[in-house]
Amino acid sequence: MDLGTPWDVEKIRADFPILKEQVYGKPLVYLDNAATTQKPQAVIDTLTHYYAAENANIHRGIFCLSEQATKRFKSARHKIQEFIGAGSDKEIIFVRGATEAINLVAQCYGRAFLKKGDEVLITHMEHHSNIVPWQILAGEIGIKLKVAPINDRGELILEEFKALLTSKVKFVSVVHVSNALGTINPVKEVVRLAHEKNIPVLIDGAQAVAHTSVSVRELDCDFYVFSGHKLFGPTGIGVLYGKRELLEKMPPYQGGGDMIRSVTFEKTTYNELPYKFEAGTPHIAGVIGLGAAIDYVQSIGLSRIEAYEQQLLQYGTQKLQEIPGLRIIGIARQKSAILSFVLGEAHAHDIGTILDRQGIAIRAGHHCAMPVMRRFNVPATTRASLAFYNTRQEIDRLAEALREVTEVFR
Ligand code: ALA
Repeated sequence: MDLGTPWDVEKIRADFPILKEQVYGKPLVYLDNAATTQKPQAVIDTLTHYYAAENANIHRGIFCLSEQATKRFKSARHKIQEFIGAGSDKEIIFVRGATEAINLVAQCYGRAFLKKGDEVLITHMEHHSNIVPWQILAGEIGIKLKVAPINDRGELILEEFKALLTSKVKFVSVVHVSNALGTINPVKEVVRLAHEKNIPVLIDGAQAVAHTSVSVRELDCDFYVFSGHKLFGPTGIGVLYGKRELLEKMPPYQGGGDMIRSVTFEKTTYNELPYKFEAGTPHIAGVIGLGAAIDYVQSIGLSRIEAYEQQLLQYGTQKLQEIPGLRIIGIARQKSAILSFVLGEAHAHDIGTILDRQGIAIRAGHHCAMPVMRRFNVPATTRASLAFYNTRQEIDRLAEALREVTEVFR
């Protein structure tokens, strides 16, 4: 893949103050980007400026500051609409994160339009946030959860998925990029297959939007969810995209201020989209900060980011495979820059602790995807997840530290 204009990773790194930090006297190597990404100075400055000079509640005040904050909030919503190629900013609902977005859909769509015996089809590589909300719904209304299998590479077996799409399936919910394996799912094909049977589809884009460009219009998915903090923005803010006709007919999620048109003790009428789903004061700073994060990502360009990360993934895969006893879990042909692995008999948490002493931050555990771990017969993996500010030198440091781990456990 072509990076276009020259890629100056040092210049990019200079935008992220935390990357200058030292841990135990060693330069920080941050390889836990699937858990959360670091924030560029532009996002930090936007948040500081908002609180220092612009803070006011939105949609309520008639004074200058409030009008200004409302304007900034609205413009961020519009930015996010364009970022994911949605048709209208009424289809962009602010929530706390991808997890809350899936819970919202399970509760508001699920309770209203699914009934006992209906099936929801997911895959074997889902994060707990795309399993448990459906299990809660199953307990409440008696739907059934069906799971499409994956192969030994960690890829969805499309033929099996197709065979499971029976007339009982009334909803499909699939992860775009697996946080535990890095697999990129053929989500466009998933949507096409489900739509052939008029089944709505939710795509969990938590691990996708920071690494590849997404157009919900092109995917034609019915719902798409993601979190701001995995996109170089603040924590506590996320997005639910939903097709307008579905959101219109869904009941609200929570009751409170802003989501109403009129209230009496006898009857309440609801506000129009997107406000119907946004009860209470929203995370105003979070929304504005997410807008700044999107501006930042777009100033670099997602296609260039993707190309660079693919090069890093290739380099990292090769380096790790050279380490005796190391087995990469998740070797999908379409893969995002996530390297999940086991190393001999060493436990992931011990590896994590040794790496930490070298200043290297990775994640160790089941990655909130216990069924995936069981599928590969491992209790846990060590996971290095990359972003566009990572470098080959950092991967070299990881590989070197892993060689030391093999010495310790020899
Ligand atoms: N889901 C996040 C991860 O994969 C927290 O680390």
